[in-house]
Amino acid sequence: MARFLFLVGSVYGNSSSVAEECSEWLRSRGHAAEVFNTASLQDLASDPEAILMVCTSTTGDGELPDNIYPLYQALREEFPLMPERRYAVIALGDSSYERFADAGKQMDELLTELQARRIGEPLFVDACETADPEGEALAWLKEWMAELEA
Ligand SMILES: Cc1cc2nc3c(=O)[nH]c(=O)nc-3n(C[C@H](O)[C@H](O)[C@H](O)COP(=O)(O)O)c2cc1C
Repeated sequence: MARFLFLVGSVYGNSSSVAEECSEWLRSRGHAAEVFNTASLQDLASDPEAILMVCTSTTGDGELPDNIYPLYQALREEFPLMPERRYAVIALGDSSYERFADAGKQMDELLTELQARRIGEPLFVDACETADPEGEALAWLKEWMAELEA
């Protein structure tokens, strides 16, 4: 059984809904999964073994949503190295914007700087391409979970 902490950045609810659906599926497979809509460093520290699931949209001009920005800032300022930590990224965006899915990319870069190890490639969900972000995310998750559980 693995443990997952979903770190959500969302303005209109799409990323929250993706995180909820993915966590429900993980729980149905016997894993532990918790969704944080305003995660803090303490939330991360409370479960050092858990895989971090960054699930964020991009807002403004390539910016992080308000509910995940404080976590990003805290990680930048405190800079807690986490070489044992694994993470994955689900980045929602819209390719008609110049900085496509930049918030997910920023979180990915920061976690890499903190020496965390990413599982697989980030998933980029483009609102121009799909009206079913939950379905895309689940398909992606099922694929890499099959490898993780193998
Ligand atoms: C005001 C506004 C600004 C946005 N800026 C960007 C952006 O810079 N880059 C991007 O890839 N998507 C951008 N988007 C698209 C959103 O990231 C996309 O619609 C996403 O699915 C929203 O997810 P959420 O409901 O979790 O916030 C923007 C959307 C809005 C409404």
